[in-house]
Amino acid sequence: MVLRCIVIGPERELADYLTGALQELGGIAVVKDLPQYPHEYELLRMVRTMAPQVVFLGLQDLERSFEIVRLLQGEFTGLQIVAFHDALDSSILMKLMQIGIREYLPSPFEMKEVAEILIRVRDAAEKSPMASAQTNLVYSFLPSKPGSGTTTLTVNTAIAMARQPEGNCLLLDLDLNSGLVRFLLKLENDRTILDAAEHAANMDEALWPNLVSSRGRMDVLHAGRIQAGVRLADTAIRDLIDYARKNYKAICVDLSGNMEKYAIEVMKESKKIFVVCTPEIPSLHLAREKFHYLKAIDLGDRVNFLLNRQSKTDLLQLSEIENLLGAKVMMSFPNDYRGVNQAMAEGKEISASTELGKQINKLGYALLERSMPELPKQAKQEAKGLSGLFKFGVGRLAAISDGESKG
Ligand SMILES: Nc1ncnc2c1ncn2[C@@H]1O[C@H](COP(=O)(O)OP(=O)(O)O)[C@@H](O)[C@H]1O
Ligand SMILES: [Mg+2]
Repeated sequence: MVLRCIVIGPERELADYLTGALQELGGIAVVKDLPQYPHEYELLRMVRTMAPQVVFLGLQDLERSFEIVRLLQGEFTGLQIVAFHDALDSSILMKLMQIGIREYLPSPFEMKEVAEILIRVRDAAEKSPMASAQTNLVYSFLPSKPGSGTTTLTVNTAIAMARQPEGNCLLLDLDLNSGLVRFLLKLENDRTILDAAEHAANMDEALWPNLVSSRGRMDVLHAGRIQAGVRLADTAIRDLIDYARKNYKAICVDLSGNMEKYAIEVMKESKKIFVVCTPEIPSLHLAREKFHYLKAIDLGDRVNFLLNRQSKTDLLQLSEIENLLGAKVMMSFPNDYRGVNQAMAEGKEISASTELGKQINKLGYALLERSMPELPKQAKQEAKGLSGLFKFGVGRLAAISDGESKG
């Protein structure tokens, strides 16, 4: 196991000295090296989305660093903290012990000591992995181009997740100029995500149920009717997601693709960003453009591509599509005009027995980080027989292909 760590080192020379030592030892990757003490929400966001096992914390400003320790301890269990400092100071050592920090690394760093710390940290991380009472399963769905099928996939994936035991999930409609989610699900509630945002800072259990619409174990904050020029403050959207993290297993956010400021904020909070595209050249071109943009703002590593409306008659092969995108396609979804429209007409989810429904279900499992249940033996045989029929062209739907996660 390669350890993942975040280094917080306002004293740059000392931090460089430390990262140099870590590099020399190996077996540990510095996923973020912060030259300043981060803002509270930034730090929580980083730990949630980067999932390090250990934080190396420079003690240049004792008060700030102790605040950070308290914040991390309050939010995460199993996250190891190693304090480092420019010299050995026994009074600091005592204070660290009092707040529960046992790993203290004073300069000059002895390689043997650093190695021993890493071994202890790794053992502890293996025994009790980092966990939090707040979910980190926040997912953004971003169209490469309007009409890619993003809202369709987001809504149906959220429903598929909510079907699983303890799969309660929240669907946030942040395409504020469409209102499609409300229509697709035939929701009656007049309260919108903007109402929720207004109360986000002091949200509570009494207010929340009035704001959301429930569909089984899925709750929805829809966008209401079209309103031009609406804005959502960064803090409001963060507060809303923070509240939801405590109450749901997972959060899916449907974005417009216009890269509004609040959409970027949500993507920063997300564990993964799903860019939805179709096999057409304009859609792929815009998917690649969005990917470049997200890379430029340091979000590239959480991008995953979903290829929607795939069909046998597509001009481009999957490998050609991946070449165009510059990354692997995580999952493909067949074109199923009839299935999608039938569901829409009934205000229901896409049938789980269709090929499209099955792929959506599979994505739901992946998002809850669960493995798909094994089919019973007999069902497996039957499924095998059916796939044989598809091979001979009896199936109406296109074959689907999955790659592993994007490169
Ligand atoms: N897999 C699919 N097969 C057939 N039609 C689809 C599929 N996915 C989406 N659609 C249709 O494509 C259109 C655009 O979908 P929508 O979800 O609104 O896209 P977006 O949110 O990316 O703008 C809708 O008419 C929808 O019914
Ligand atoms: Mg949409």
